[in-house]
Amino acid sequence: MADPEREKRIKELLSQMTLGEKIGQMTACTALWKHAVMLPRYNLWTYDSGRNKRLGIPAHKFTDGPRGVTIGHSTCFPVSMARGASWDAELEERVGEVIGYEGRAQGANHYGGVCINLLRHPGWGRAQETYGEDPHHLGEMGVALTKGVQKHMMACAKHFACNSIEESRFFVSAKIDERTLREIYLPHFKRCVDAGVATVMSAYNRVNGEYCGHSRHLLFEILKQDWGFDGFVVSDFLWGVRDGKAAANAGLDIEMPIKRFYGSSLKKLVLRGEVPEKNIDDSVLRILRQKDRFSKVGLPSYDRSRIAGKDHSALAREVAIKSMVLLKNDPRVLPLDRNKIRTIAVIGKLADKANIGDIGSSKVRPPYVVTPLAGITGRAGAAVKIIYERGDHLDAAKLAARNADAVVIVAGLTAKNEGEFLPVPLIKIGGDRINLDLPKDQEELVLAIAPEHKNCVVVLEGGSAITMERWRDKVPAILMAWYPGMEGGNAIADILFGEANPSGKLPCVFPKSTDQLPFFDNHAKEIEYGYYHGYRLFDKKGLEPAFAFGFGLSYTTYQYSNLRLDRAEIGRNGKLVASVDIKNAGTMAGEEIVQLYVGYNGSKVDRPVKDLKGFVKLALQPGETKTATIEVKAEDLAYYDVSQKAWEIEPIEYTVYVGPSSRQKDLRSASFKTSG
Ligand code: BGC
Repeated sequence: MADPEREKRIKELLSQMTLGEKIGQMTACTALWKHAVMLPRYNLWTYDSGRNKRLGIPAHKFTDGPRGVTIGHSTCFPVSMARGASWDAELEERVGEVIGYEGRAQGANHYGGVCINLLRHPGWGRAQETYGEDPHHLGEMGVALTKGVQKHMMACAKHFACNSIEESRFFVSAKIDERTLREIYLPHFKRCVDAGVATVMSAYNRVNGEYCGHSRHLLFEILKQDWGFDGFVVSDFLWGVRDGKAAANAGLDIEMPIKRFYGSSLKKLVLRGEVPEKNIDDSVLRILRQKDRFSKVGLPSYDRSRIAGKDHSALAREVAIKSMVLLKNDPRVLPLDRNKIRTIAVIGKLADKANIGDIGSSKVRPPYVVTPLAGITGRAGAAVKIIYERGDHLDAAKLAARNADAVVIVAGLTAKNEGEFLPVPLIKIGGDRINLDLPKDQEELVLAIAPEHKNCVVVLEGGSAITMERWRDKVPAILMAWYPGMEGGNAIADILFGEANPSGKLPCVFPKSTDQLPFFDNHAKEIEYGYYHGYRLFDKKGLEPAFAFGFGLSYTTYQYSNLRLDRAEIGRNGKLVASVDIKNAGTMAGEEIVQLYVGYNGSKVDRPVKDLKGFVKLALQPGETKTATIEVKAEDLAYYDVSQKAWEIEPIEYTVYVGPSSRQKDLRSASFKTSG
């Protein structure tokens, strides 16, 4: 809702500005020497734009994310994909609050870490920066982070749009039809806009041949016009604008992080009439609106000693615990029993590595990182002996495994295998993963150690799906720990020893092999982004994944019963409530993520077998039963009718599926209709 007083104030301010000053609002103002320092030490300070001393307009001061604040030595949370596995919007909002606090305490007023690009293929190098593959789930998590951050400063949703291949990000064009764009790749951005996100960052890549930073269709027609976004659009850094005229006319409001095409070049374009001054005025009003809005947001003071302090690191540990996904525990070897176990062999070089994710623009520099080895050693207590082997000498590692009561192998990926990519000759850091297996040496390590001990637990680190068909049947237990942040080692130990009950569920399908996934070529100039990916594709083709979307085990068991809908029919503006009873039938307290999907019967257009429309998380004591209630709105059932340029809710029958994962055999169902 526009605030009439604010609108009056900013229009008044605009009327006092010269053309140069207006363009100044749209232009970076970080001192050159700071850029020079930040070449090797990226994100050391904020990247600033739009300071105007004469009119007393403060700069917009950008810092990055998403696993924390990238300036200073801030709290490092688990990466977004891990947080996506918590399916816990309330928790994510608390993460956002800490991020907002720490950013603000260090002088920033704009957080660039609400990354909600849809994971089309798990090989995407920056998969770890987003929450998963499903638009509804992405929307819930993105909104939660936005709300939390915006208690202190502006948040930026990125990268708009279809940015999900890394090595070709500066040139690739996503070929996509309008229905797929609107239904699959954009709804989560709209959710953040509806929740009041202050800014949006355009993507580097092209969509249907046009750079996103130059796309009037994306930035103006969809974002600003259709969705009514009243904030501003910043470019992705350096290569987000290639042509000032195209960008300014498309609705790109600020060029970051240096003056290349805006500044005096943009002024000339305006003077020549190639960019109408009303476009500039619109951009400036958007920028002033958010500056004005956020000048009233936040606390009276910020205490720097709280950065990565006790409360914030406790939250990082809680999030890491709630993010981990127990993929396998058969026969049951977890949790490890400290009363029975005398010796644990911890094996693998990653056990002793601070492995918190990518080292590109999302790099956070926490004051410390608890490694898995440190966490396990600390938790095991003096009575349990820990023998550590890096795995460089296979015979020694095998011997250690043979002589132990339990074995924990820590394997996975690092910033060398996946992450943000710059095309610098001879240096290959990050980039996409074409092969989703573990790196060869680690796969060999698992294969060598697994036969040595029946109680062999594999802890995996990484930013998205890992294929493991060569070895997953050979070990009884697998725990996906992702890049678990600065408290990751403690959280891993909490789960291994049963101090905490695992509750995370996969936010993306783990396939058996890459053949099951959409076509992925990270050098192609154009890639077709089809309607189907992730579990929708698996469902449609009837494929069996290694681990399904929404899947995750617990140390307890949950029984679902009595699915019911509060009505059999809803109108176009209506909604229904699905309820299901869930009992903790085991002996340990736990949290269960309950998922609701909808299927479409007799639609006149091609629809997925089912798609996620809601989820809740319930905390249950042993023996306790609670009712989960999830709402479905008629508007969420619509498809985008391209010919009408409108959302269409069909009067057909729908099936509601509720259960602990997307696997058909896990789901209970009930039907309802929509009317006229
Ligand atoms: C990344 C963005 C990031 C920006 C600023 C770019 O390279 O693509 O995600 O926000 O740098 O750090």
